[in-house]
Amino acid sequence: MSRLIVVSNRVPIPDKTGTAPAGGLAVALQSALEARGGLWLGWSGQSCAEDRIGPLQMLRDGNIDYALTDLTERDVEEYYQGFANRVLWPICHYRLDLAEYGRREMAGYFRVNRFFASRLLPLIGENDLFWIHDYHLIPLAAELRRQGVKNRIGFFLHIPWPAPDVFLAMPVHEEILSSLTAYDVLGFQTEHDRENFAACLARQGLGNRLDKAHFALGSRTFTARPYPIGIETNEFVTLAQRAAGTTLHKRMLDSLDGKGLIIGVDRLDYSKGITQRIDAFETFLKRNPDSQRKVALLQITPKSRSEVPEYEAMQRAVAEQAGRVNGALGTVDWVPIRYINRSLRRPALAGLYRMAKLALVTPLRDGMNLVAKEFVAAQNEADPGVLLLSRFAGAAHELKDAVLVNPYDVEGTADAIARSLTMPLEERRDRWKSMMNALRANDVFTWCDTFLGDLSRYEQVE
Ligand code: UDP
Ligand code: G6P
Repeated sequence: MSRLIVVSNRVPIPDKTGTAPAGGLAVALQSALEARGGLWLGWSGQSCAEDRIGPLQMLRDGNIDYALTDLTERDVEEYYQGFANRVLWPICHYRLDLAEYGRREMAGYFRVNRFFASRLLPLIGENDLFWIHDYHLIPLAAELRRQGVKNRIGFFLHIPWPAPDVFLAMPVHEEILSSLTAYDVLGFQTEHDRENFAACLARQGLGNRLDKAHFALGSRTFTARPYPIGIETNEFVTLAQRAAGTTLHKRMLDSLDGKGLIIGVDRLDYSKGITQRIDAFETFLKRNPDSQRKVALLQITPKSRSEVPEYEAMQRAVAEQAGRVNGALGTVDWVPIRYINRSLRRPALAGLYRMAKLALVTPLRDGMNLVAKEFVAAQNEADPGVLLLSRFAGAAHELKDAVLVNPYDVEGTADAIARSLTMPLEERRDRWKSMMNALRANDVFTWCDTFLGDLSRYEQVE
């Protein structure tokens, strides 16, 4: 078997503090890589002055060798906070209004991708298989090809690929689009994302589509397919079952005092629809006064990308909104929204999911959304909770038996909350079983094996 080299900006660095990995990419890839083994190169999360960049930090944990690099302060500002998170992220999440395009940031993005290529080159063996992840590193294969790398290189995009009218509004769309053609296998979360990508190629007149999945450009060919990312389904079931006896579980049950738990778990990100969700919850409470004092929304929202102005503004907005609802509707012994700005570890999350009667997963756009899948896996088969899911999350393409909502429709979502909380047991069970089948059929190991199987068999068409 060839050695696997994974590259992503964010790496769940093994540490002693046991902090939870930030976001779905790190969580899913760690599960997949632990089973297969390989080398994982990425950013150390540290920045330093230009002349202080040292050698790669090498760590081994289980089956995985980590190679971590610092970035300069300027790199972090231009590449990570700048182009990746103020241009590509908003554009791919349909927020053209938030995209702050600047030439300096764009140049920084390509410069850092060249830098990652230079860190990789000395490590490469002839038969190594490369798997590059997410929007931070789109030009990496093109940089490696320029240095003569002939190995198979795959790319997986964890976030949505937007419709052509949105994508082509980005000033450097040609460079971004054409650099993707240097990969052999391109993976998207859904068929919809792959088709949006294909439509962008067609609109730009870039290459020919040979069939549904195969494309040709000049002397190269590449494939593009959906590979919906999964979770460690069986392991998550066990985690949730084990949580029942823990102190946290007991404390939470005591504090609920018979009230129904509704849960939301999201990084503090404008794509997650948190403000619309709180509006919907408030509308639900106002329209169903009998439910007041009988339910509590636990919103777990770790801070994310706080140096990026749009995220900083959002931190204030959500805290104020939760405070306003609690102030308006709360009583001396009932707080409608428990708002937490810290990240919880997965065993704790699994237990809370299992205790909840309802999960609100209402992103305005999301590549997949692993929280939706984890919530389903954590349920008690005999009395499962309900998943209320945005139709704009990639997960909605697989979890068709969730209660699907349009998160922009606040009143519709409020009605769906009411319906979900009174759903008969039989319907809850039927929906849960069908969703659980989907999670068993495509877990994170299937995702990884399918992608890497396609990549390792890939032959350039002559
Ligand atoms: N997560 C966690 N602790 C938290 C909040 C989230 O471990 O306090 C994990 C969560 O279990 C899930 C991931 O972070 O595996 C979030 O992935 P998702 O695809 O839902 O969203 P993303 O953050 O990648 O946009
Ligand atoms: C999403 C992205 C990942 C990213 C994660 C956390 O899941 O697809 O690439 O790692 O969010 O964001 P951060 O900026 O902290 O890495």
